[in-house]
Amino acid sequence: MATDSATRDENFPIGIASVGLHEEPRRIPVGEPPALPANAELGEIGKARPRWNGRGKVTGAIRYTVDVMPQGMLFGRILRSPLPHARVRSIDLSAVRRLESVKAIVSAVDPDDPSHAVVRYVGQPVVAVAATSFTEAEEALNLIRVDYRPLPFVVDMDEALKAGAPKVYEAESAPQGGGFPGAAALPLDGNARGPALASRGDVAQALAAAEVALEGEYSTQVQTHCCMEPHGLVADWRDDGLTVYISTQFTAGVRRELAQAFDLSIDKVRVVVDGMGGGFGSKSTLGNYGRLGVALSRQAGAPVRLTLTRPEEQMDSGNRPSVRQRIRLGASRDGALTAMAIESHGTAGVGLGAGIGNFAQAIYDCPNFSSAQYDVFINAGPGSAMRAPGNTPGAWGLESAIDELAEKLGVDPLALRDRIDPSPARREERRIGAERIGWSRRHAPGADPGPVKRGLGMAQSLWGANVQTAASIAVRLRRDGVVEAFSSVQDIGSGIGTVIQQTIAETLGLQPSQIVIHIGDTNFPAGPPSYGSRTTASITPPARVAAWKILQALFAKAAPALGADPGDLLARGGAIETRSEPKRSIRFADAAALIDGDMLSVTETRSEDYGGFKRAIGEAALARQDLGGVQFAEVAVDVETGIIRVERVVAAQDCGRPLNPLLLESQIHGGVLMGLSYALYEERILDRATGRMINANLEQYKVAGPREAPQIDAMVIENYQGRSATDAYGIAEPANIATAPAIGAAVYNAIGVRLRALPMTPAAVLEALGRTPSRG
Ligand code: MOS
Repeated sequence: MATDSATRDENFPIGIASVGLHEEPRRIPVGEPPALPANAELGEIGKARPRWNGRGKVTGAIRYTVDVMPQGMLFGRILRSPLPHARVRSIDLSAVRRLESVKAIVSAVDPDDPSHAVVRYVGQPVVAVAATSFTEAEEALNLIRVDYRPLPFVVDMDEALKAGAPKVYEAESAPQGGGFPGAAALPLDGNARGPALASRGDVAQALAAAEVALEGEYSTQVQTHCCMEPHGLVADWRDDGLTVYISTQFTAGVRRELAQAFDLSIDKVRVVVDGMGGGFGSKSTLGNYGRLGVALSRQAGAPVRLTLTRPEEQMDSGNRPSVRQRIRLGASRDGALTAMAIESHGTAGVGLGAGIGNFAQAIYDCPNFSSAQYDVFINAGPGSAMRAPGNTPGAWGLESAIDELAEKLGVDPLALRDRIDPSPARREERRIGAERIGWSRRHAPGADPGPVKRGLGMAQSLWGANVQTAASIAVRLRRDGVVEAFSSVQDIGSGIGTVIQQTIAETLGLQPSQIVIHIGDTNFPAGPPSYGSRTTASITPPARVAAWKILQALFAKAAPALGADPGDLLARGGAIETRSEPKRSIRFADAAALIDGDMLSVTETRSEDYGGFKRAIGEAALARQDLGGVQFAEVAVDVETGIIRVERVVAAQDCGRPLNPLLLESQIHGGVLMGLSYALYEERILDRATGRMINANLEQYKVAGPREAPQIDAMVIENYQGRSATDAYGIAEPANIATAPAIGAAVYNAIGVRLRALPMTPAAVLEALGRTPSRG
């Protein structure tokens, strides 16, 4: 964080551009640039620009992790447990040790150490090997003999909650804290850990006194990340240090994990990623495969590539936990929300983090609230953060219940939100979204004659605006006029380099393509992670501050040459001009030639939001305002086949100041598609007899494809809050939250029958319509 204590007041544009802007003063550090005007007055920021590395991606110039092939590279493979719960009695490696092709063997369990001898899910790593080819590594795995003593297991949450169910953990071995969102130590009763409690007001009294009451149970399935690029790394352990090329959302974080795990000093560890094909939360940390890959390289004294196969990824690279929520709402007859009580049970397998986030707690005005959340352990691969963890299943429950409440009150769901939702941003998003989708066409539930019935529905999104305060970037102006930016921040695929270019170009009066981007390497100043939708909010403000400081230094050099006062200069169109006499100017590159020495270089770290944060969390913080959006869905349901087709989604979203509409639209499309896929198709299915995932692939694990893609209208409002040098926040997670409940509400509007469980498969639709015998 900035250390200057001196501040000054600046007037900032505040409000929603399409509603009307006003000015408000903000106190800012003296070293920071003046307020940016609204996008309408800017040249680069706010303009649609293609991804900085788009050409490299389509031509193959970008280097993905699997493109890295150091001389003498070995291939790693992991032998994984075929059993969901077992004690490993012995591991016989004698046949493998005899193989010439095998250069390293690392065990992930230890039969001689009771606390490391138990495997708890199918797919848990047991032994890793590195061999001279992938095939030889695969063959080596077949020669390893593991003696397992099977233990009782449970892979179904309801079974796991029954008295006498097989226990996944004894109290002393259960994970405490961690998970996402993490929680402090909580009691463990059988397989249920919790409750994590939150409350305000008197919910019991308010429920008892409610004029209108509603109760429902809503459930969501386990969804897996299915990144286009698989999880993988190339670990290169040398005497003088460790270099790890890894598809990761956080180079600086992985470097720290590696230094700790392998007892190295930070300067001996380098983490690099160039191209990346997504992460969605599952590549936030080193992972057990990362540790194994590095351990193999250390033992072999050679670089090792370890890339997970699709089945390995489906079983053991994280997942979005399932959640079942019992929601009770109380309201007054005129539509004020008076009570919300939620109890949730979810499972992240052997991990934690199966909660409902802060969605219900934070989105609506409701004086009386309580939640009790339980994590239930089962013998399955651990969950992890996945695109708006907690809030995505949380929104399925609460937004479905609010839709039901509107029906019960006999009011339009939009009108109910106008009454209970204090957010000015969502109010505007409801207005523009309703107009775009043609909400006035919405008919009574089930009104179409069929067999294909259409319907309209909507739901809302809420997400905290995360900021990494430990986020640094260096901007350098070379004497030849070249401007470069350096940060370890990685491009997860959404194009962070582009908005860094735009921010610096706007500040220096240059074109974005003139800013050379060097990122994804811990040799550069430590940047933020690409998770929690925080990258843009964390890295663009220090990028602007650094560029602005460079410009001030350049003005000091150019002023004498122009016979002007430095305060009278401005940078525009590739030149430094005098304000009073624009023709008196010097080309940017000529001004750069005036600097002393080789270059000007300024490194900046994210300062605190102007006016402070809502909450600081270690090296991160939550901004005062939340992020959100409103989504509308139009569906066609065939009541004879049960097939739901989503025809159109209108997504109106906010993210502070939008920096690049093209990239924002791209992220909204991704969020909507992932949400649609969650609503209708995706589900991890575990076999109760064997504990195996029966669709551990991308064939039977169905992800929405082009055939299922609806028309998507992305609309981004400009919501200025004057909180940082760019006032920009993220959108990746907010864009994913409202889609499933919007589709659910549209399905109800189409068929007049409520589905409260995801995914809404054809079988579930037919069952809800009473057209097939229950699958029970
Ligand atoms: Mo996201 S779940 O923070 O990658």
